[in-house]
Amino acid sequence: MIRFYHALFSLSAYFLILASYLSPGVSAYLIPEERAAPVAPDGYTPARVDCPANTPRVRRATGLSINETDWLPQRTNNTVSAMKDLLSRINITGIDTGRYIDNLTSNGGTGLPRVAIAISGGGYRALMNGAGALAAFDNRSTDATQTGHLGGLLQSATYLSGLSGGSWLVGSLYVQNFTSVESIVLSTSGFLSTLWRFDHSIFDGPSDLNIVRYYTQLFDAVNDKKKAGFNTSITDYWGRALSYQLVDPSDGGPGMTLQLEPMKHADYSKAVTFSSIANDTEFRTAQAPMPLIVAVERTSGQVQIAANSTVFEFNPWEMGSYDPGLEAFAPLQFVGSNFTNGTIPRNGECFAGVDNAGFVMGTSSSLFNQALLQIGQVQGVPDFLLNAINDTLTDIGDDNRDIAAWPNPFFGYNASVNVNANETQLTLVDGGEDLQNIPLHPLILPQRRVDVIFAVDGSADTATLWPNGTAMVATFNRSEATTSSADDNRFPDVPDQNTFVNLGLNNRPTFFGCSNRSSGPLIVYLPNAPLSFHSNVSTFDLKYTIEERNQIIQNGYNMATRGNGSVDANWPACVGCAILSRSFNRTRTAVPAICRDCFTRYCWNGTTNNTLPNTYEPAQILQGATEQSTSSAGRVSGTLLLAVIALLLAI
Ligand SMILES: *[C@@H]1O[C@H](CO)[C@@H](O)[C@H](O)[C@H]1NC(C)=O
Ligand SMILES: *[C@@H]1O[C@H](CO)[C@@H](O)[C@H](O)[C@H]1NC(C)=O
Ligand SMILES: *[C@@H]1O[C@H](CO)[C@@H](O)[C@H](O)[C@H]1NC(C)=O
Ligand SMILES: *[C@@H]1O[C@H](CO)[C@@H](O)[C@H](O)[C@H]1NC(C)=O
Ligand SMILES: *[C@@H]1O[C@H](CO)[C@@H](O)[C@H](O)[C@H]1NC(C)=O
Ligand SMILES: *[C@@H]1O[C@H](CO)[C@@H](O)[C@H](O)[C@H]1NC(C)=O
Ligand SMILES: *[C@@H]1O[C@H](CO)[C@@H](O)[C@H](O)[C@H]1NC(C)=O
Ligand SMILES: *[C@@H]1O[C@H](CO)[C@@H](O)[C@H](O)[C@H]1NC(C)=O
Ligand SMILES: *[C@@H]1O[C@H](CO)[C@@H](O)[C@H](O)[C@H]1NC(C)=O
Ligand SMILES: *[C@@H]1O[C@H](CO)[C@@H](O)[C@H](O)[C@H]1NC(C)=O
Ligand SMILES: *[C@@H]1O[C@H](CO)[C@@H](O)[C@H](O)[C@H]1NC(C)=O
Ligand SMILES: *[C@@H]1O[C@H](CO)[C@@H](O)[C@H](O)[C@H]1NC(C)=O
Repeated sequence: MIRFYHALFSLSAYFLILASYLSPGVSAYLIPEERAAPVAPDGYTPARVDCPANTPRVRRATGLSINETDWLPQRTNNTVSAMKDLLSRINITGIDTGRYIDNLTSNGGTGLPRVAIAISGGGYRALMNGAGALAAFDNRSTDATQTGHLGGLLQSATYLSGLSGGSWLVGSLYVQNFTSVESIVLSTSGFLSTLWRFDHSIFDGPSDLNIVRYYTQLFDAVNDKKKAGFNTSITDYWGRALSYQLVDPSDGGPGMTLQLEPMKHADYSKAVTFSSIANDTEFRTAQAPMPLIVAVERTSGQVQIAANSTVFEFNPWEMGSYDPGLEAFAPLQFVGSNFTNGTIPRNGECFAGVDNAGFVMGTSSSLFNQALLQIGQVQGVPDFLLNAINDTLTDIGDDNRDIAAWPNPFFGYNASVNVNANETQLTLVDGGEDLQNIPLHPLILPQRRVDVIFAVDGSADTATLWPNGTAMVATFNRSEATTSSADDNRFPDVPDQNTFVNLGLNNRPTFFGCSNRSSGPLIVYLPNAPLSFHSNVSTFDLKYTIEERNQIIQNGYNMATRGNGSVDANWPACVGCAILSRSFNRTRTAVPAICRDCFTRYCWNGTTNNTLPNTYEPAQILQGATEQSTSSAGRVSGTLLLAVIALLLAI
């Protein structure tokens, strides 16, 4: 029925089972690169830890956290040289950008342009498309500082947000000490080469891990969490499975001794918490942007709508929301402790480890839980795992199959605004379920003072699985519905989706918010488009050959650089103009002619054409590149699975 499982599967599974009896505990043991500290107290199982001297407490979301406020000036300082290098390389004629930036720096640095990057959801497609964009923006990538390239934009960025598939990319890089996309993709040996092996689907498990042991570890990890008294859902299995691709595919891991009886233990090697990123050298010293992972809250029986869903953010220090239904943040490391009225009572106990990095990524992408339900089709999956997944469904009900169950640190807190003040569990779902599939929401918060957002959209909106601006429209609609005070940023005007398609705004970069009327950031919309490859693969394709993975990443690189400037030689300069645009307004600097030209060509000028377009079938943009078919051998068709999921969700 489903092509995940080639005919040989049962045969190979048989040998794997045999092998597991013959060689217990011995498997490939790779020494990982330095990365986020494995500070989870007991593997995947949350466990009691000593309470810190300062009692962890929930804070009112009246402004940014002290942690972020302290970190920001360091980050600003560290972006200066990358930004100057980038701007000088891309050669904006008519302005000495080096002197311009120096001048802003000498005036205290508060006027420096603040850059953010947002990576949309859309499963592996969004991860790979986003990875290409990040590689293009990363001055560590080969040739990224050559003419026509954009290396240094990532090093100039203060924030990097990810949602669902985009959160897999962001989370994966940060738990590897902010390694580069290229160092994962180009590695042929060593630990990094074992990541992002999408040729081994989550149903297969990593190549070096005995499949029975893989499934047993999935089961044990979740079961141990459950036994420790924490609610679990399919998201726990999903997050565990993801971690083998994104965090650590081997049995080896930092702080772990070789387990001779791995089946009896929770999975220690994958026990990297998201909060441990706060301790990571690269992040702590502000050498990397601040990562933000987005999920949305669902109260029981509620259908998510963009206009009033509570959007949660996870950052290395905290989880919570600035939205009206909560307006509070909890210290991420200690979520799972018994918070009452916002504090852990004196003599109360502190728990840590709920914020497992894979669980955070799984929460942001909980829609994909549905895919795990197909695991029953795989031969060789042990019954105890199927039963456990089935039991989970029985526990939480079919309507809630896509939720992540978080202990509610906001229990009893600020009941006048907190709609979950009486709940001991927080129900979080995929960040894209309110249609805001690009994680822009945390970046338009006025206190973050972002000047420009590079919005990488790998959504599959059209019938042909390309984006059509739906995520932009959703965030615009929400902003229209909720902007109440003059302090709020207005999201820029955007047209309807038909206009996006009819005017080709989904086929090339477009700037939104160019007029002075927009108070918030300028949005540089970067839609997935076929530059060198038809990267419109299905969201629910869970398996890709390495060749195909690399082609989609390369296409993302080309999308971000417009074919390294071959489509428009001035594109890099236009990116520079976008970075400087709000700053020019602030400093009342005359906009250079080349920037005026960029804004004429890239800003959406308010034109609309909302007639229903024909089926959107874009041609490949870079003619030199070989035309590729999307159905290369070895990739799994997810169309059928997609249909099943669509039925289940009624979407
Ligand atoms: C993280 O990476 C940076 C840059 O590559 C390196 O200097 C640093 O030592 C690494 N930190 C850890 C904890 O591995
Ligand atoms: C700013 O960065 C420079 C080098 O990039 C460093 O020497 C200086 O100490 C930093 N200042 C602060 C306040 O972080
Ligand atoms: C910058 O661009 C101008 C004209 O656009 C050109 O004359 C000049 O050579 C360029 N400089 C560099 C370093 O590319
Ligand atoms: C430096 O900034 C100040 C204040 O924004 C401005 O008045 C001055 O013209 C700037 N100088 C240069 C060289 O840009
Ligand atoms: C950071 O490291 C310190 C010392 O190892 C540890 O006590 C603390 O819990 C860590 N913080 C986080 C958020 O992981
Ligand atoms: C969101 O809006 C819908 C429709 O207006 C309403 O029924 C629902 O109660 C609202 N939910 C919240 C959490 O405000
Ligand atoms: C955030 O800042 C507060 C106040 O300084 C501090 O108590 C807390 O430990 C910090 N959190 C982390 C994760 O470093
Ligand atoms: C949590 O703490 C409160 C006191 O603040 C106590 O009444 C309650 O029983 C505790 N809950 C658990 C599960 O320990
Ligand atoms: C929490 O706050 C409410 C209202 O302020 C109060 O009635 C209750 O006793 C508090 N509970 C605890 C455990 O402090
Ligand atoms: C799990 O549930 C499905 C559908 O409800 C059922 O077809 C399957 O047999 C169950 N599997 C086990 C192992 O109980
Ligand atoms: C929480 O429970 C209290 C007391 O039972 C009730 O007064 C209050 O309305 C409830 N709050 C919410 C948001 O349901
Ligand atoms: C745009 O995408 C939405 C779903 O995301 C779809 O319903 C709509 O038909 C699409 N419109 C066009 C013109 O592609």
